[in-house]
Amino acid sequence: MSNELKQMVGVEAVHYIKDGMKVGIGSGSTMYYLVRALGERVKQGLNIVGVPTSNQTAEWAKEFGVPLTTFSEVQELDLAIDGADEVDPNLQLIKGGGGALLREKVVAAAAKEFIVIVDESKMVSHLGAFSLPIEVVPFGWEVTATKIAKFGCEPIRRQSNNQPYVTDNGNYILDCPFEKILEPEKLHEDLLSIVGVVETGLFTNMTSKVLVAQEGEVKVVEL
Ligand code: A5P
Repeated sequence: MSNELKQMVGVEAVHYIKDGMKVGIGSGSTMYYLVRALGERVKQGLNIVGVPTSNQTAEWAKEFGVPLTTFSEVQELDLAIDGADEVDPNLQLIKGGGGALLREKVVAAAAKEFIVIVDESKMVSHLGAFSLPIEVVPFGWEVTATKIAKFGCEPIRRQSNNQPYVTDNGNYILDCPFEKILEPEKLHEDLLSIVGVVETGLFTNMTSKVLVAQEGEVKVVEL
């Protein structure tokens, strides 16, 4: 996605954040532009608090002056906004390309409304061309990976600087190339039943709206 499209959709999504809202703030490079634009609105007087989905997002929020809170202070969010790696026609998602899927899902599940911001390259007819990120506990991850493989992929443990990538929660990510996921809900349930799997990057039946940036406009997709 070009930076212009990311910026366009990030700035547009800020209009959905109203005064007084408690907002879940997603992760990833598209969300960077939203956090930056939100900081501008806060400087102009918008009164909101945000719950960040990653340490990186929390840093951006601090940099741009977006007030943050935690789940020890708020239990329910009015709105959560986040990016995605793939969106299918039923608004089912693959997320976790940036490794923040667990906190992203906790935040989205705590929100009354969940809006996703992407560019049109993320809109797909079937999920799965993007390898599905699955967060697993480090202990016994090899056993967990073998069990995941039985569902039709060869999991690859994510690396960062030649070291295993470790999430904000201290876990590993297995990237799983399923190629075509025809039943995302079922696959998610099957994978979650494996001991050692903490969460999958399949976000099913959570999204209320997708804002899609394309050349010159932002389209709103709803079911
Ligand atoms: C972070 O873990 C992901 O779920 C991101 O939301 C997703 O990877 C989209 O990121 P970009 O906006 O950087 O494409």
